[in-house]
Amino acid sequence: MKKNLIALLIYGEPGSTKNALTEEKYKKLAAHFIDQGFEVDSVLYHDSISDRLAKELLKYNAILVWVNPIEQQGDRKILDALLAQLTSQGCFVSAHPGTILKLGTKEILYKVKDTEFGGDVNLYNSIEEFKNNFLNEVTGIRILKQYRGNGGNGVYKVDATDLKNSRIIVTHAKNGNEEIAMTINDFFQQFESYFANGSMLIDQEWNPNIIKGMVRCYLSGSQVTGFGYQEINALYPLINGIYKKPGQRFYYTEDCGLFKDLKEIMEKNWVPQLQKLTDLNKEELPVIWDADFFINKINNENTAEKYSLCEVNASCVSPFPESSIPYIVDMVKERIKA
Ligand SMILES: Nc1ncnc2c1ncn2[C@@H]1O[C@H](COP(=O)(O)OP(=O)(O)O)[C@@H](O)[C@H]1O
Ligand SMILES: [Mg+2]
Repeated sequence: MKKNLIALLIYGEPGSTKNALTEEKYKKLAAHFIDQGFEVDSVLYHDSISDRLAKELLKYNAILVWVNPIEQQGDRKILDALLAQLTSQGCFVSAHPGTILKLGTKEILYKVKDTEFGGDVNLYNSIEEFKNNFLNEVTGIRILKQYRGNGGNGVYKVDATDLKNSRIIVTHAKNGNEEIAMTINDFFQQFESYFANGSMLIDQEWNPNIIKGMVRCYLSGSQVTGFGYQEINALYPLINGIYKKPGQRFYYTEDCGLFKDLKEIMEKNWVPQLQKLTDLNKEELPVIWDADFFINKINNENTAEKYSLCEVNASCVSPFPESSIPYIVDMVKERIKA
């Protein structure tokens, strides 16, 4: 019988010798696919070879994508067109660009704002809207997030409590805790570029509970597959003059007792709500994605009061806990069968 063929698509400069089958992040996943009777190839993606890939990738039953051109200061235009074309020709692609748009941008924070895991969030569609409303609408410390980004890039803590002295203090999550004081004019000028090409800016209330650490809930489709816990995260506030740098994330299986409540509420309640708000059915959810939660109240019987959403990552989620692997493989099996 012909084996099902899987491509693990990762980013690589032309001439690169990178190989997903030997890379720490993917090698156990590749090995499990092979154990389960699949044939697995590592395929390197670069915008410059997308035409060739459009033909070569057609032979794969499933293409699992771990490419994030935004990290290379690019955009997803060419990659998304390729993935959409492959989908239309019958390949299973994860994550599909349409799914990423619905679930994996910072707009999701606005979509969920009225749910029990949402929060105080505004969305600005233009620099004019931002200028007219931001400083009037909100009080206290806010977090501004660009529409699409990762690694703290385009995420800013904004403290306008000294506004009467025309000073706004801005901290870019990407640059540690460096605080920059600026005038209102400079502030709005700095954010103008985030509205280019019809993009938007998301404004979330500052969550001081960041000091309790954050839980990353990993999912495959609608099932929770594991957790990560990171105690010190970006924008951790200065306490007693001490600045703590973000630390390592530790991984736990989906059965970890510490996060049992989160698994239960995600699978029963919050994932279905996310699906409804994004109009995504279970089969359209990515094979691996994650949701980051603040821990607002500890040792609280009421899970809904305990956690709130910081962000969702729907593309390029790696590393992931090893416990996710069988779920990913099972989901791919199901999608190919369908
Ligand atoms: N509302 C918030 N309150 C406090 N810290 C936040 C808030 N939102 C984000 N952060 C901090 O900034 C980091 C980056 O923000 P996030 O939304 O995760 O964007 P990115 O896509 O860059 O990871 C988070 O990991 C967290 O440490
Ligand atoms: Mg993040």
